[in-house]
Amino acid sequence: MTRIIQLSDPHIVPEGTLCYGVVDTGKALQQAVATINRNLPLWGKVDMVIVTGDITDFGTAEEYARFRSIMADLALPVRVVPGNHDLRENMRTAFQDQDWMPESGGINWSAEFSDFGLICLDTLVEGHHHGELQPDALAFLSDTLKNLGSKPVVVGMHHPPFNTGIIPMDINNLRDSAELSKIIESHPAEVRLVCGHVHRSVTRSFGKAIGLIAPGTSHTVTIDQRVENPHTLSLEPGAFMMHEWRDDGIVSHIIAGNYSDERHPFTTPV
Ligand SMILES: [Fe+2]
Ligand SMILES: [Fe+2]
Repeated sequence: MTRIIQLSDPHIVPEGTLCYGVVDTGKALQQAVATINRNLPLWGKVDMVIVTGDITDFGTAEEYARFRSIMADLALPVRVVPGNHDLRENMRTAFQDQDWMPESGGINWSAEFSDFGLICLDTLVEGHHHGELQPDALAFLSDTLKNLGSKPVVVGMHHPPFNTGIIPMDINNLRDSAELSKIIESHPAEVRLVCGHVHRSVTRSFGKAIGLIAPGTSHTVTIDQRVENPHTLSLEPGAFMMHEWRDDGIVSHIIAGNYSDERHPFTTPV
């Protein structure tokens, strides 16, 4: 059975510093990695861990090195796509030893597993917070879907192509998503669209696809639906997602990044 884990928005900063002066994002990622390692015997084989953007807060070599050092504790293949807080060439350099990392252009890549395909796309527009899919990303998606035939697919990217009601994020989501929608509609099997950027769990349909925004591994964007909102972060618990093939469809779970290993039977003590 195919099973992948999706982490998103770790926003790694240099060791000894706090993101925005308040969030220990490195510790949160370490906790998520430890949670995964502790629970792998309960979950079964995981084929890959993907990280859907904002790997770092400023895109520096030091931050990417720290990210890789933390993730090295996972004995699983790890792949990434950039978010608006990343820098494409620094990310490429940081992962240049990985065979999935393209040597130039957008950081788009794919993998095929027994039950579904995985296509991850680069939406980064450097110098801006919104996302766009460049023609090379759209062509890569279209060609890879054709090669997958009638196989279900998970499409991953940083920027969601739909609104959440959190206006400061909605104005910086994926622009010009009509072509994305058209390509997804043409695929003759299930499509699960998995994004990040908003740091909190959101689900909605995107044409024929179920669209998900994964929670961040550390802080969240405050859920504030007022038109005039001050755009703040909240220290809600970090979490991640696991997407797995079950019966005849893709099942997506949200899992807290750090929780007690205590387990208790569902019985009332007498
Ligand atoms: Fe982020
Ligand atoms: Fe982002």
